[in-house]
Amino acid sequence: MLTRLIVLLLALTALLAAGIAALNLRGEAPIAPDARPQDGTPSQIAQGAYLARAGNCAACHTARGGAPYAGGRGIATPFGTVYAGNLTPDAETGLGRWSADQFWRALHHGRSADGRLLYPAFPYPDFTRVTRDDSDALYAFLRSLPAVRQPNRPHALEFPYSTQAALAVWRALFFRPGSFEAEPDRSPAWNRGAYLVRGLGHCAACHGGRNFLGATPEGGLSLSGGVIPMRQWYAPALDAPDQAGVADWPEGEVVALLRDGVAPRGGVLGPMAEVVLGSTQHLREDDLRAIAAFLKALPQRAPSQPDARPADPQVLEAGERLYADQCADCHGAAREGRRSAAGRLLYPALDGNRVVTMEPPANLVRVIVHGGYLPATAGNPRPFGMPPFGLRLDDAQIAALATWLRERNGAGPVSPLQVARLRGAAATD
Ligand code: HEC
Ligand code: HEC
Ligand code: HEC
Repeated sequence: MLTRLIVLLLALTALLAAGIAALNLRGEAPIAPDARPQDGTPSQIAQGAYLARAGNCAACHTARGGAPYAGGRGIATPFGTVYAGNLTPDAETGLGRWSADQFWRALHHGRSADGRLLYPAFPYPDFTRVTRDDSDALYAFLRSLPAVRQPNRPHALEFPYSTQAALAVWRALFFRPGSFEAEPDRSPAWNRGAYLVRGLGHCAACHGGRNFLGATPEGGLSLSGGVIPMRQWYAPALDAPDQAGVADWPEGEVVALLRDGVAPRGGVLGPMAEVVLGSTQHLREDDLRAIAAFLKALPQRAPSQPDARPADPQVLEAGERLYADQCADCHGAAREGRRSAAGRLLYPALDGNRVVTMEPPANLVRVIVHGGYLPATAGNPRPFGMPPFGLRLDDAQIAALATWLRERNGAGPVSPLQVARLRGAAATD
């Protein structure tokens, strides 16, 4: 009886394993065994250099102070750290022996040249929508870089996440190779924007939110916001007017935000400042307009109900005092911000600012604790910085400040416990 049960269980396991293996091979054309690395044309290389900006490949594939694209930067996940590899054409440690087919398979199917399944810290669930032509251009560009000999760092993942079997199950559940399907009744600009946002721009990798197994919902099409794992920054919903929605912004302001890092209604912070710095500031005006057209057309969700819990009057009083002492010099006594005579934003206004009112208040706390810089861009070459207050103010003081600023703007209180939790994340991030 027992043996029969064991046999049955084994058979079921084998069937499941076969199913998972089959799901992991979906749509994969066999790789030609004799395919050789090939150099691209000058126009492919130029196109690839531009697309590498659109995908911000260098941001993850460059270690701090290391050679560009030579890998070694760790991406922290709740399951451990995944190290981005060497993309330079070194034959031993980089992509020197890869064929264009193998490169395409990595981008489109998330499988390395040696057949290994890749972790989705590499945003291939988004890159799977990139066209073969664009993949070939990226490949040509990477092959044109100076070869850097730098062996890849092994990932530091916890068991069982470190196994290919666990990754295969994850992929069977959450990953489908896809392609970008143009919507004929939308404008060419909208379609171009959709291709960039959902593909190389991998906006959903942050703005989509992730489930407890690290997957972005709706196959990476959702942009409805989420906390970035391990970094404690909140990537706000791009489809909500009270978060990061831009439906009611003039197109030119959206373009300015992505190009310069500042726009009349605010500047970019933290991880978004990195996106502007490494990626969107380098994009052509027509592509930025296309992204703006797509973002502006996203169906908007109703704003969430404001948190109407009243704040403790003593906390509000403490917050008001702290603001006058620590913040008013730059942000203005009436939280109105300051501009240069030429109209350049020096210090953002805090009243009516979505960073202040947004739920959850993670970014408000993060920016007070860690300070920050707007990215240096051609349109804003010498941005002012905000000093970090994490050492000067304790959790209760930061909570009081945040609570008072939010109360002025109709949003609910922040507790010292919330501040303590948000403080935990790495200062550099
Ligand atoms: C958000 C961070 C991130 C971005 C952005 C990113 N990558 Fe990666 N990439 C990774 C990580 C992490 C890995 C390692 C995955 C693994 O080994 O399982 C990786 C792996 C790869 C691999 C497979 C390397 C190998 O040895 O198997 C290729 C090819 C690659 N990336 C190309 C690119 C290109 C091209 C871009 C830009 C279009 C890009 N990546 C953007 C994080 C990133
Ligand atoms: C690495 C994570 C990450 C990626 C990738 C990312 N974002 Fe963001 N984004 C954020 C975070 C965090 C914020 C909130 C901080 C802030 O207000 O700048 C943000 C804010 C924004 C805002 C609101 C800014 C404001 O001032 O109101 C817009 C618009 C935006 N992102 C668009 C995009 C687009 C378009 C893409 C893809 C091209 C993208 N983001 C990719 C993390 C990311
Ligand atoms: C020395 C000047 C200075 C002081 C003092 C200062 N800030 Fe800032 N603050 C800035 C600058 C510059 C920025 C824009 C930098 C950025 O976005 O990274 C900023 C950004 C912010 C933001 C994000 C707003 C947005 O639209 O992105 C908030 C919130 C904020 N400050 C709150 C505070 C609070 C609260 C205090 C007091 C504890 C304070 N600041 C003190 C200069 C200052």
